[in-house]
Amino acid sequence: MDKHNWPLEEGVFDRFSLISLTKFMKKGVFSSIDYCIAEGKEANVYRCSTPEGGFVALKIYRLRSPSFVHMQEYIEGDRRFAGAGSGIDLIHAWTQKEYKNLSLMHDLGCRVPDPIAFKANILAMEFLGENGVPYSRLSDTGSEDPNGDYELLLSDIEKIRAGGLVHADVSEYNILMTDKGPYLIDCGQAVLTSHPRSEEYYKRDLENLRRYFSKYPQFKA
Ligand SMILES: Nc1ncnc2c1ncn2[C@@H]1O[C@H](COP(=O)(O)OP(=O)(O)O)[C@@H](O)[C@H]1O
Ligand SMILES: [Mg+2]
Repeated sequence: MDKHNWPLEEGVFDRFSLISLTKFMKKGVFSSIDYCIAEGKEANVYRCSTPEGGFVALKIYRLRSPSFVHMQEYIEGDRRFAGAGSGIDLIHAWTQKEYKNLSLMHDLGCRVPDPIAFKANILAMEFLGENGVPYSRLSDTGSEDPNGDYELLLSDIEKIRAGGLVHADVSEYNILMTDKGPYLIDCGQAVLTSHPRSEEYYKRDLENLRRYFSKYPQFKA
């Protein structure tokens, strides 16, 4: 690993993450890290190339995340992750939680990135983009067909709920506008419908979606 060619970012490429990345490389999950698509408080997302000439997205959670408290709310009431602990254990549980949430949503036939693998604080998933360029967020591009896009998103949110989960962070910032319609991303906080606050999160998701699309004069819902 030639450190001069690495897009080194504070708090992400620590020694533990490098070990996990090496394991992913050995398994052929990716062959090189190309660039950072997005830098966030909790994680960075990278476009990576695969040995087959395709791309994957890697989401690397910060081991020193400032958001432990926020995360705890979405993990404590979820019986899949009871006793997830704190600190690095919590970040590992969170990464696994995002992987499991994506798997379930994907299996339900929803528009979400197909999860590929997870290890420690790193999640590999389908890269959503065209010709290697990541798709834009709804917040950046807007919608050309607000009624159609709203219907597709609402249908996925309902499908996810019928499958036993609530996304819990739906907003124009967590939707990518792809050529196959709007995709929901950022699924780490999604909780089981048995979570004591799942109904509140579900209503908030619906309200966020309706609020965003209401700015379009042609929107009818
Ligand atoms: N599978 C993906 N393919 C392409 N770009 C992605 C993918 N997942 C995330 N991104 C990009 O990375 C950004 C941050 O990802 P997100 O999961 O929302 O993390 P955060 O918790 O930092 O908000 C997104 O807004 C999007 O631009
Ligand atoms: Mg996000």
